[in-house]
Amino acid sequence: MTREGWDAMARWRDERMGEDGDLWHRALIDPTLLDVVGPVRGLRVLDLACGNGYLTRRWAREGAAVALGVDLSSRSLAHARRREAASRTGARFLRRDASRLSGIADRSFDLVVANMALLDIEDAAGAVREVARVLDAVGRFVFSVAHPCFDLDDRSAWIVERSRQGDGVFRDQIWRKVRLYRDERSVRVPWPISPSEVGYTRSYHRTLSTYSRILRDAGLAIARIEEPTPAPELVANSPQGPLIAEIPLHLVVEAVVRRPPSRRTRTDEARPQGSRTSARTARTSARRTVGGDRRGGSGSPRRGSTNGS
Ligand SMILES: C[S@@+](CC[C@H](N)C(=O)[O-])C[C@H]1O[C@@H](n2cnc3c(N)ncnc32)[C@H](O)[C@@H]1O
Repeated sequence: MTREGWDAMARWRDERMGEDGDLWHRALIDPTLLDVVGPVRGLRVLDLACGNGYLTRRWAREGAAVALGVDLSSRSLAHARRREAASRTGARFLRRDASRLSGIADRSFDLVVANMALLDIEDAAGAVREVARVLDAVGRFVFSVAHPCFDLDDRSAWIVERSRQGDGVFRDQIWRKVRLYRDERSVRVPWPISPSEVGYTRSYHRTLSTYSRILRDAGLAIARIEEPTPAPELVANSPQGPLIAEIPLHLVVEAVVRRPPSRRTRTDEARPQGSRTSARTARTSARRTVGGDRRGGSGSPRRGSTNGS
């Protein structure tokens, strides 16, 4: 028996994810994601493609000023709302296509997070444009995806070679083989729901350059990249744990809003009779403005941390 799409998988996923995420989230992806996100107290946080909303609810519990989860799957949102009704955190949930966040005002969030979701969104460029639109001037976008270089659905696989080493002891050598990296086709991803049931969702492989271009075109600049390492729980409980300890299968990216130079600076630079000294001063101050924002520093009273570390 097969199931198709996120709605058909919502109940199974909700049971797996619960309030803390499944093994892969708990012991691999989320610790790095949460470290990059940093403290959320006082921040307005949008959880893009939130699934059952366990992270939205976590950030509401941790004191986010706003914790809003959006997803296209109404059944996933029904699970999020049921959990919220059973134990209130203040999180809210809306059904939205990530690439059309209608009704969500410009610059209304300090932080947008998309955990393992951009790779499942068909119009990722549109979604990232919407992220940039709803982010405030010193906002951050943190997302995790399958590692574009090492985890390409059925086009990548592990090779484990056991051979006698120089000291005479047999050891494993772990290799990751990848093919058709530049081919950005979408694939149906199988999820083994039970011995007799498989669910399928659609996933979109994109190269690193595509992700970087999508961010840049939307006015966002990459500030940090991390490659999650497995916690002991994953190494002990997943056959892939020890392999991922050598070669990462995920990427966590933090991007920040790139602001154009302020109007005053542009006018100063364009002024025809301006002296060389004043033009140079204007350029220096423009660079300082942009640099300050990239570090995510002082400008926002809402920001809890600059880089989560
Ligand atoms: C792998 S799940 C991740 C869910 C959640 N972020 C988590 O970590 O558990 C991907 C989610 O993306 C959602 N999704 C796919 N396309 C979407 C779109 N265009 N707009 C909003 N959500 C979308 C799916 O409904 C699904 O809940």
